[in-house]
Amino acid sequence: APAGDLPTQILHALDKNSPVLSSEAFPATPSTEIKGALDRLASRDMVKYETIDREEALLEPEGEQIAANGSHEARVFEALRAAVEGLTIQELEKTIGDKNVVKIGQGRAFREKWISKTQDGKLKAAKDSVQDTTKEQMQTIQSTRTYPDAKMLADLKKRKLVRTQKIISFKIEKADKFALKIPEVATDLTADMIASGSWKTATFKGYNFKALGADQQPGALHPLSKVRSELRQIFFEMGFQEMPTDKFVESGFWNFDTLFVPQQHPARDMQDTFYVSDPKVADLPRGEDANDKGDYKAYWDNVKEVHQNGKYGSIGYRYPWSGDETRKLVLRTHTTAISANMLYKLAQQKGPDGRPPPARYFSIDRVFRNETVDATHLAEFHQVEGVIADYDLTLGGLMEFMDIFFGKMGITDLKYKCAYNPYTEPSMEIFSYHKGLGKLVEIGNSGMFRAEMLESMGLPKDMRVFGWGLSLERPTMIKYGISNIRELLGHKVDLNFMRNSPAVRLDKE
Ligand code: PHE
Repeated sequence: APAGDLPTQILHALDKNSPVLSSEAFPATPSTEIKGALDRLASRDMVKYETIDREEALLEPEGEQIAANGSHEARVFEALRAAVEGLTIQELEKTIGDKNVVKIGQGRAFREKWISKTQDGKLKAAKDSVQDTTKEQMQTIQSTRTYPDAKMLADLKKRKLVRTQKIISFKIEKADKFALKIPEVATDLTADMIASGSWKTATFKGYNFKALGADQQPGALHPLSKVRSELRQIFFEMGFQEMPTDKFVESGFWNFDTLFVPQQHPARDMQDTFYVSDPKVADLPRGEDANDKGDYKAYWDNVKEVHQNGKYGSIGYRYPWSGDETRKLVLRTHTTAISANMLYKLAQQKGPDGRPPPARYFSIDRVFRNETVDATHLAEFHQVEGVIADYDLTLGGLMEFMDIFFGKMGITDLKYKCAYNPYTEPSMEIFSYHKGLGKLVEIGNSGMFRAEMLESMGLPKDMRVFGWGLSLERPTMIKYGISNIRELLGHKVDLNFMRNSPAVRLDKE
């Protein structure tokens, strides 16, 4: 065999003679090794090759014996032909030296009518010569490793003289870049190569465009962020403006009193609301900048009046309203505090007709509630909030809007249930049938803001305001099939889940 490693041997073999059959040039080398070497050379365009599958016939030990010594029946015949007087079985066994050959051979020789019996019971040859076809077949197979007659080959296999095996071999030819040595390839162009000029003659390794890129482990948006951005898109396409919700701490005034939540309301209890301990109280309400034309003193007085004594046709709650209570600082329990602030500012605006113009506001941000934490509740969550202010709105209009709004999230067949909020009348909880759970689930809370709230701000009597809220977590958990909120928020979150979760969840069918 030629010297060197297998690729080099292949190149040398081709140099002498192209094409080369691997089965002839490298009969002892496993085909997988040959293929490995060929692929290396073919990737450099030095050789090309074709794979040839074929069946090879090989002799079993008994077949080998027949090829060398003849078939059993022929050996029996030859022994008898040499003995003119004929032989007994014992004598025949002694002559041939193999009982088994005699046993099988004499049976076949009889059937072929090659031998017969003498009168005294001995065996004798019945012909002058015979043709040992089996021996010829074995010799053909031995030298050609195949046999032209497939039926006969199958027969020989059955007789356990021959076996076949699958052989993979290769027809190898020179290709365009054939050479006797594999050129050294450079993987990078280096400063040294440029300095020495060796780049001019260097062979560069080709790009492997099929290689998979390394896993970059990129950052990923949190599922809540993904659903949030989809919801923002829905709001924007429906003409909403985003409210500035960039503060978590509110005064009781904006969080509760402006919304006509009485100061004894259970929601204002320490059990339900987080109070800030330092500082404990807020300044009196005031405008945030020079453009703020609000008369906060008058507003404060209106709020106090409507709670304590009633106003705008309402009899109020009739309790002594406390200014200290209203200044307590809380972690906002809902973003409706911001809606109240925005509606108050809307009341200061003048449209072309000198009245506050219609407006649509939304926000999606964090709120805090002093709740017992369990599988579906955390002490903080994200509230999606929407507000529509316009003249002569009706409850039917609110329901129509909800159908459209939730329809854009893929949530249909809404059901409404009477509910109570201190700041809306009427109020409706919104339900939708959840196919996975097989029941109606609450998806939001809504209503028309009360006159006590809106007229205190100075909004015209015929301006009506829809409001609604839902949690961002609820639709996200439903869409991602999450049953425990800790899989979505907190230290137990699986980063791979974050990375692999789809970008868009709200199916629009
Ligand atoms: N603030 C309400 C809540 O926390 C949602 C809501 C907003 C309801 C506006 C009606 C009007 O669920």
